[in-house]
Amino acid sequence: MAKILVGVSGGISAYKACELVRLFVKAEHEVVPLLTPAGEKFVSAQTLNALARRSGSGGPYPHLERADLFVIAPATANTLAKLAGGIADNLVTESALAHRGPLVLAPAMNSRMWASPATQENMRVLRERGAHVVGPEHGELGEGGSGVGRMSEPEAIFECCRQLLAVSDSLAGTRVLISAGGTREPLDSVRFLGNRSSGRMGVALAAEAARRGAEVTLVAANLAVPAPAGIELVEVDSAAALTDAVLGRDADVILMSAAVADYRPAAKESGKRHKNDQNWTVELEPTTDVLLDLGRRRHEGQLLIGFAADEGDQGLERARAKLRAKKVDLIVFNDISRPGIGFDAEENEVVLITESGEVVLSRAPKSEIAAGILDEVERLRGQGA
Ligand code: CTP
Repeated sequence: MAKILVGVSGGISAYKACELVRLFVKAEHEVVPLLTPAGEKFVSAQTLNALARRSGSGGPYPHLERADLFVIAPATANTLAKLAGGIADNLVTESALAHRGPLVLAPAMNSRMWASPATQENMRVLRERGAHVVGPEHGELGEGGSGVGRMSEPEAIFECCRQLLAVSDSLAGTRVLISAGGTREPLDSVRFLGNRSSGRMGVALAAEAARRGAEVTLVAANLAVPAPAGIELVEVDSAAALTDAVLGRDADVILMSAAVADYRPAAKESGKRHKNDQNWTVELEPTTDVLLDLGRRRHEGQLLIGFAADEGDQGLERARAKLRAKKVDLIVFNDISRPGIGFDAEENEVVLITESGEVVLSRAPKSEIAAGILDEVERLRGQGA
């Protein structure tokens, strides 16, 4: 049973949201209906809550609670514009801004509004951020006439949500250890040397592996995004703590997506260092290369995946060399010289490097890239790599 937020904005097709809520309830999901003020003019909160079998009271912020999926049907041009712009001025747009997880949009509007450059640009932005879009369809429109803009039928919207919620068991019984985020190496009691990794890629991998039924442990260093539900979370700060956490555990698949510091200050000052007018020279010493250690001590049947964040064609060459040097099964290369992907970004584009060849996963939200990486992991496991 999943928890689903159903947002309804103000369009004539709002009546179809009742059927959508009914389908979710029939499939034994928990539904929280949310209406915009315009949506309330078309369908009442009482009707939707009755169909969702909710008393309608809940806590003070039922719309901000964690949910597995958020679907907005109908999504009007106005609501889509607000979502693209991050405006949070009603229950639906506020929830959308707070929601972490799949977002499904079922647009519904007049065909000229749909075709307008503003709406199309908003849709491009929302798709790029990972929103799943169902419809709109060509057909009879609310104000008469026909064209593209009619909301998809509740069954089609439900099917899209069902697929997104579907839990596969392709990694059932597999222990997957993922490191994510960026380590911080203390200089004194308040300062550290760090890096720009947000942990998004590792978090997306953890969510996808859990969705495929794996037993997931996420060793997380200073994540800028929330960790997914349903996994074991081990929080660490420095490269040394991450090393202990990773080398102290066994797993069938290890994905080292964390940006682990290669160097740390050789000496940490006790307390806070106070400024003076002299230069401050810091000596750095190398840290343990966790992936290299894992490669040396790997056991039969264990899969090791390394990540290489590097620049340009020479970076790609270095990533290829790492496959052998670190004795790993797969290196995920991303080119950090290109804007908008990789470090601290929502999207990524990677090259999967294995002994048998290379596969390019073209630019997509990190959730899709994570799915592509795990497809490759499953292929390698099938080969008994
Ligand atoms: N890694 C690690 N331990 C470290 C540093 C990196 O396990 N102390 C892992 C990372 O998690 C990543 C891979 O090694 O999977 C990156 O390899 P690395 O050789 O460190 O590459 P970069 O630091 O990206 O590049 P360079 O070789 O240029 O330092």
